[in-house]
Amino acid sequence: MLNRKDLTGLVDVTKEEILEILDTAEKFKEINSREIKKVPALKGKTIANLFFEPSTRTRTSFEIAGKRLSADVINFTASASSTTKGETLIDTVKNIESMGVDMFVVRHYYSGSVRFIAQNTKAHVINAGDGTNEHPTQSLLDLYTIKEQKGKLEGLKVAIIGDITHSRVARSNAWAMKKLGIDLRLYGPKTMIPRDYLPFGCKVCNSMEEALEDCDVVMMLRIQLERQGIALLPSLKEYSKLFGLNKNRLDLAKKDAIIMHPGPINRGVELPSYLADCDKSVILTQVENGVAVRMAVMYLLAMQQNTKLGE
Ligand code: CP
Repeated sequence: MLNRKDLTGLVDVTKEEILEILDTAEKFKEINSREIKKVPALKGKTIANLFFEPSTRTRTSFEIAGKRLSADVINFTASASSTTKGETLIDTVKNIESMGVDMFVVRHYYSGSVRFIAQNTKAHVINAGDGTNEHPTQSLLDLYTIKEQKGKLEGLKVAIIGDITHSRVARSNAWAMKKLGIDLRLYGPKTMIPRDYLPFGCKVCNSMEEALEDCDVVMMLRIQLERQGIALLPSLKEYSKLFGLNKNRLDLAKKDAIIMHPGPINRGVELPSYLADCDKSVILTQVENGVAVRMAVMYLLAMQQNTKLGE
C-alpha cells in the first residue's frame, strides 16, 4: 500500500512507491482485458472529479477507473458550479466532502492548488494536473507504457521535446525518471526551458540531434499557447520547422524507438500525422494504460492491507 493520504506529485514519491503503482497497474490491465471489467474493490466509496480546466483523457480515464473499481463517481464542472458566484476553492471542497466524498481527483489551473486542497480535507486527493507544476498520473502511465514496451526502465534514454516550461507532464516525468535511473534529455526553444530543471540532473540539450541521438523513447509535447504570451514563439510554422519531429530526425533515435505524446496533439506542429499514427507511435496505448494506472493509484490510496484485487 502507498504510505500516504494523497498523490499530489512525484517530487516526494519514492522509487519503491512508483514501482508498486506500476506493478498494481499491471494486475488492473489484466482485469481490463476481461469481458467483465468491474471489480468491487472500492464499492461503497464516493469519488468526486473536480475539474477547473478542460480535459478529454484524464477526466474520462479517472471516471472509467473509478467505475471499474465500483466506486460512485461524480463529476464536478467548475463553470456550472457556485465558484462562478464567488465561492472559494476550499469552501467548494469542504461542502462536497461533507456529503460523504472519500476521494477527490483535482485538475486546477494554479500550481500548488491541489496540495493546498489536500491539506484542507480528510479525503484522499489525487492531482490530475495543477498549473505548470505536476501531472503525476500522466507520468505514471508514461512510465508504465515505456516499461511495457521496452521491458525495463533503468538505463533507457528518453528525450522530451517541446514546451518544457509549461509542461506539468515533463516536470512529473523529470522527478520520476531521475529516481528510476532513466537518462532524460530535454530540448526545446530556449524560452521554453526552465532553469529550475537543471538541479533535477537531466540533460538540457543544445540541438535536436543531441537530444534524439540513440534514444529509446521520443516524447513530443504540445506548445501550451493558453499558458503563455505568443512572444515566446515567432510562429507555429517556424516552431514546427525547428523543433517538430520528422522522419529524418526520428532516424537519429534507435531503430526500435517509440513515439509518445501526452495529448492533445497539435497535428502538423510538434508531430505530423504520418508519425502520430505510425507503428512506432504508442500514443493510444498511453491512453489505454491510463485507466489501469489510475485504478492502481485510487486502489492503493484507498484500500487496507489485505484487500485482494479482483474479489
Ligand atoms: N494528457 C492529458 O492531460 O490530456 P487531457 O488534458 O485531455 O486530460
